[in-house]
Formats: sequence, structure tokens, C-alpha cells
Amino acid sequence: MSESYILGIETSCDETAAAVVGNGERLLSNVVSSQIATHQPYGGVVPELASREHLRAIVPVVREALRAAGKSYESIDAIAVTQGPGLAGALLVGISYAKALAFSLEKPLITVNHLEGHIHAVLLEEKQKGNFQIDFPLLALVVSGGHTHLFLAEQRGHGWSYTNIGRTRDDAAGEAYDKVAKLLGLGYPGGPVIDALARHGNPRAVKFGPSQIKHNNRGTPKAERTPYDFSFSGIKTAVLRYVELEGMRESIHARQQALAGIGKPAAENILAHCDKKTLDLVASFQRAVVEDLVGKTLEAAEEREARTLFVTGGVAANSELRERFTLEAAKAGLPVYFPSRKLSTDNAAMIAAAAFPKLQAKDFAGADFSAEATLVLR
Ligand code: KG4
Ligand code: ZN
Repeated sequence: MSESYILGIETSCDETAAAVVGNGERLLSNVVSSQIATHQPYGGVVPELASREHLRAIVPVVREALRAAGKSYESIDAIAVTQGPGLAGALLVGISYAKALAFSLEKPLITVNHLEGHIHAVLLEEKQKGNFQIDFPLLALVVSGGHTHLFLAEQRGHGWSYTNIGRTRDDAAGEAYDKVAKLLGLGYPGGPVIDALARHGNPRAVKFGPSQIKHNNRGTPKAERTPYDFSFSGIKTAVLRYVELEGMRESIHARQQALAGIGKPAAENILAHCDKKTLDLVASFQRAVVEDLVGKTLEAAEEREARTLFVTGGVAANSELRERFTLEAAKAGLPVYFPSRKLSTDNAAMIAAAAFPKLQAKDFAGADFSAEATLVLR
């Protein structure tokens, strides 16, 4: 059978992305236009600005993805687009453009759940490496700026089916990274900065007890509770309290002033403006988050008898998280797979890859679907 090419389009948050993937396993191009510079002054993603930036970038990004893949619009077999979850206005830009392309080119259109995309980023790269042996049930931790979910996956027909067995009750893990970095005047996004700084601090210096990170069931109806839930808003408050108690405000302000003078500060610039107290705090925060993510995931894997682990999403780029998962999964005798750093954060290759089983099953979208900000993965 000849290879089928899917053009993937992703605009659910703050990256405008397009990619071409052959048969769900051969990456031909992967173009990501980041809006980090636009949102940096606000320390988080501003939805209205995100939509405007997607509108500006979508046409050149798609054109570049086709050019880099050596493909014409006509030679693509299908178009895949993220339907949700994500920012409604941002999703709509990608969806409207994908619909228009599919209509004018008379190509099938496939909708993809962003979370399934993150999971398929791992599968795509494993297939690229020649690893086609994935054992089920598979447990996937999807951990990013907007999500912290545990999905148990089984094979179903051409594709996979999912059961959500854990999720965050409040903030996503990446959101906690971003908020803590903002609070400490370390810039945006927080994950990569904290990742780089944490190795210079003592992770045992500040004690974050389980009470700060344990999930809180208050207010959640019993039927909706899942056994492996997460909660990351308590640790953010604990960091704030520590800052107040230890009188760190002035040094944070001084750092903000100093870094404002540097256009795009690198990790070394930021490190040069951090005292030991800040580095210890950052290292302790990261250790607490990583231990919680690894601990609950391995507990779930054992209890649900998972045979493979996937760890994916923006936070899966974190070095300590990767090290700890590699170590603990080996102890448990479980194979664990991560995407490369490039495919950990949002991209469209994962959307094109996740769409391939749907192309095989001829599971195409009509013209009447819209963005689903809270789309559930099943
Ligand atoms: O998957 P992603 O690009 O977007 C969402 O779907 O949310 O994830 C972005 C998130 C941000 O919160 C960012 O701070 C976090 O991933 N992140 C990291 C690292 N790189 C990105 N968190 C921890 N360590 C990293 N190295
Ligand atoms: Zn994402």
C-alpha cells in the first residue's frame, strides 16, 4: 500500500503549528510558530491575543509545512485539525482554515483530540525508531500547561480507546510551574527556567508536605472522583507563603528589574540573579511536583496492571521528571517512553499522527462540527 500523507493543523493554545506525517509514522515536516514573545509580558497566555496571532500565522505556517515536506496542497491525502480541548477562539482559527482547505481541495477532514495528539507524539517517535511492539493496557500521563491527566489506553480497531483514571482538581502541573516562576520573577514560560535552575539548588531545603500537594475532594461529587487525582494549587500558595515569611520580596523585585534590561534572558542570565534561597526553593518545588507525578502514576500502573508507560505533554520535557520516571519504571519492570523535547510541547505532527487510524477507518468529520473547549478523550 502506498503511503498516505496527512497535513496536521494545531491552534489550541499559544503555538500555531502545521506538519506533514506519512502513515502516522514518518515525520516529513514539523513547523511550530511560538507566541511566547506575545504573552511573555503577561506571564501567561492571553486568549484574545492568541487568536489574533493564530490568524496572522496560520497561512504561512501551513505553507511552510508543505514546502518543507516537499508536498503540494493537492498531494495531501487528508487534513487533520485539533477540535479541543483548548481555547475556543484559538481552536476556531485552525478549524475554520482546515474546513476551508478541505472544502476547496476536496480532501477528507479529520478531527483530533489534543490530548490524544500528545499521546500519539510518543507512538509516532517510537515507530520512527522501529519500535512497533507496544503492550496494552498502556498508561499515559499527559502533563502540560493546561492538563494533568492519567489515561488508561486499550487498542480498539485501528485506534485506541481511553479511560480517564486521574486528573488535576485545580491547576495543571505546567500551570504551577508558570505561576511559581512568575511569582519569583523568573520569566515565562516557567517550566524550562525552573528545570534549568533546579539543579543548582537543594531539593530537600524546603519541605512541601503531602498536604500541599494531595488532591482535595471537597466539593467534588463522589461519582466524579477518580482515584489518582492531582492538585497543584496548594504548593503554589505554599511557595507564596514561604516568600512572605522569608522576606524574599525585595530580591524578587531586584531580579525583575535586572532581567527587564535583558531582552530575552537565557537561563545563565537568570541564574546569575538568583541567590541560594531562591535556588533551594525552586529545587524543592520541582522535587515535590515530580515525586507526586511519578508516585501516583506508578501506583496507578501497578494497580491497573499497565504494561507500558507513556509520559507526554510540555512538562514531559522536564529533565528531573524524565530521570525519575526512567529510574522508577525500571524498578517496576515497566517500559517507559517519552517524546523528544521538540514533540513534548504543542505541535501538529502529533495531530497528523493521531489522525492516521481515523483515515484508515474512514472516520471523517462533517462540515458542521465546531471547537470544543472541554472536549473529553474516550
Ligand atoms: O504541551 P504544552 O506546549 O501546552 C499545553 O498543552 O499546555 O505545555 C506547555 C507547558 C508550560 O506550562 C511550560 O511551562 C511547561 O509545559 N514546560 C515545562 C518544561 N518545558 C515546558 N515544564 C517543566 N519542565 C520543562 N522543561
Ligand atoms: Zn498541549
